[in-house]
Amino acid sequence: MKAVIIYESMYGNTRTIAYAISEGLRPTAEFSVVSAAEATPALLRDADLVVVGGPTHVHGLSRPATRRSAADAARKSGSCLTLDPFASQPGIREWLAGLDQCHGLAAAFDTRLSGPPLFTGRASKVITRLLRQRGFALLTGPESFLVTKDNKLRAGQTMRAEDWGRSLAAGLPSETLSSR
Ligand SMILES: Cc1cc2nc3c(=O)[nH]c(=O)nc-3n(C[C@H](O)[C@H](O)[C@H](O)COP(=O)(O)O)c2cc1C
Repeated sequence: MKAVIIYESMYGNTRTIAYAISEGLRPTAEFSVVSAAEATPALLRDADLVVVGGPTHVHGLSRPATRRSAADAARKSGSCLTLDPFASQPGIREWLAGLDQCHGLAAAFDTRLSGPPLFTGRASKVITRLLRQRGFALLTGPESFLVTKDNKLRAGQTMRAEDWGRSLAAGLPSETLSSR
């Protein structure tokens, strides 16, 4: 079974969650973890499962303007935020817009502030919709992993992400698993 985990991250939290999800998949799948900027169409060609995640910005999925705001915040004097190496590259929205029609299984996640999704929004809901539009079938519902107001992952989130990775593997159809 082959899985590809594609992330976008400004401050590194979504990248950390992407790698934690891959740890949950490790016993079951061969996997690659790549940023949206590195996700070539060839990588998707043999994937049995595509997992896509990004940070929640302005109640949804980031856009170039929200990524610029995020980068500006990191560059302010006194900021403790560090920009991800791929922060200035196109994100998940642009990557999905550039895909041809696809097929196969997918799942979406995001990072966001804690609080009712009605108030915070969830990038993973938008990602789910865009994945469906591209022809993917969703293996499970969107999942969120939480950060503090100063952009640090809340306690327990990487463990949750590993568990979620395991639950994705457990939800795969048996014919996919036997094709390892
Ligand atoms: C421009 C901007 C807008 C944001 N808007 C929201 C929001 O509407 N809801 C929310 O829960 N978090 C919001 N956040 C917090 C981000 O979700 C948080 O920075 C992100 O999860 C961190 O992930 P990253 O380290 O991978 O960039 C926003 C952050 C930025 C920089």
